[in-house]
Amino acid sequence: MGNFKTYIDKNKERFLNELFELLRIPSISANSENDPDIKIAANSIKKHLLKLGLNNCEICETDGHPIVYGEKIIDQNLPTILVYGHYDVQPVDPLDLWDQEPFQPYIKKTEIHPEGAIFARGACDDKGQMFMHIKALEVMMQDSGLPCNVKFMIEGEEEVGSDNLEIFVKNNKNKLSNDIILVSDTGMINKTTPSITTGLRGLSYMEVELTGANRDLHSGHYGGTVANPINILSKMIASLHDSNNKITIPGFYNKVSEASNDERKEISSIPFNLDEFKKSIGINAEHGETGYSTIERQSIRPALDVNGIWGGYTKEGSKTVLPNKANAKISMRLVPGQNWREISKLFTKHIKNITPKTVSVKVTEHHGGEPYVAPTNTVGFKAASNAYEDVFNLKPIPTKDGGSIPIIALFEKELESKSILMGFGLDSDAIHSPNEHFGVSNFLLGIETISKFYHHFTKLSKG
Ligand code: BES
Ligand code: MN
Ligand code: MN
Repeated sequence: MGNFKTYIDKNKERFLNELFELLRIPSISANSENDPDIKIAANSIKKHLLKLGLNNCEICETDGHPIVYGEKIIDQNLPTILVYGHYDVQPVDPLDLWDQEPFQPYIKKTEIHPEGAIFARGACDDKGQMFMHIKALEVMMQDSGLPCNVKFMIEGEEEVGSDNLEIFVKNNKNKLSNDIILVSDTGMINKTTPSITTGLRGLSYMEVELTGANRDLHSGHYGGTVANPINILSKMIASLHDSNNKITIPGFYNKVSEASNDERKEISSIPFNLDEFKKSIGINAEHGETGYSTIERQSIRPALDVNGIWGGYTKEGSKTVLPNKANAKISMRLVPGQNWREISKLFTKHIKNITPKTVSVKVTEHHGGEPYVAPTNTVGFKAASNAYEDVFNLKPIPTKDGGSIPIIALFEKELESKSILMGFGLDSDAIHSPNEHFGVSNFLLGIETISKFYHHFTKLSKG
């Protein structure tokens, strides 16, 4: 294995320009008006894979957004790495809070990224991180070549639940067979402390609609005599947590596997500064389930949050109205032991139970996914650990992340292989938020670490 760093340094301007091109495509999976952009993004990735000489490059159509596939099998006897990532991005709203256009990438220095960060929707989640894998292939190929086989599968529906990827995976088990799945779609502890994500929370995403009268009413003439669905929904939502911030849905915690003392001790040794955490997001005090630390609340404990709530009059000035509908989108983050379909059912049942007779209720299940845990005593983990050590001169710390990538648990079930989550994003990178960015050095170090991983994994796999 040669000196990847020299090649990366020499070519970084071009790497960044190529990434910028991808970031200019507004491939928002949630908005159908961006469907043409989704196709353009998929094509652009296919072109990169073709240019690297990957075989069987194709755009696999689905009932939703397409999946890009490509592979390079150099020797059946060598291990195969399956790279997964996503080219779709989150919507950009609220647009007015962006300093510049979300799809016109630019580089700006920040306190945390003094060398500069790439600002754009998708810079970190996940175009920037996914692109590191494409460039890592280039880096290895100009060096001594790929040390093992590789398959690429980049999807366009991660931000909307990966429903069609699930079908694709179930129908293409042979094509996707692999020894390890490699993913960069998570974060690291901080700029200089590498970490490997060993857990992701599951997700159950629900919507509730309450309906009162058969039309909006005059809030003076009817106020006080007819149930207001917004008042009722607010009360129902408030009742979903008790005074210890535990979730009150009956049975919700029944299958939660409690962390062992050893695990809790390990968590408490992860570098984390509560004051910095509060400062970084501008809050005066933290919040959460009694008896658990902030990192625990974020990683090994479930959570329930309203993602959006609407109804009634919200425009300029005031309108006196007693609305007849109230809606909320509610997500639950799940931990090992919990099953998302079961939790969705418990949620639905409970919401129906606590809805008073004065209104009617409709509960809709959006999407979900199971939590994921990765062992640390595997060849994949060891190879990743060595790769980080080569590049960062530090052993990476195993951490569990609070976010969800539902397809990772499905990969384990259907393809029977584990994923290595090598994330290079930082909490401050503002993914899903205005001014999302990704450190230039994180991007470049990521490319180097990934390239090293291939070599360590191949070597360790051979025994
Ligand atoms: N890359 C994120 C997940 C993530 C972010 C994991 C940070 C760990 C740390 C992914 O793109 C994402 O946003 N997932 C969604 C779930 C999906 C079903 C919409 C999430 O976690 O909200
Ligand atoms: Mn992502
Ligand atoms: Mn995301």
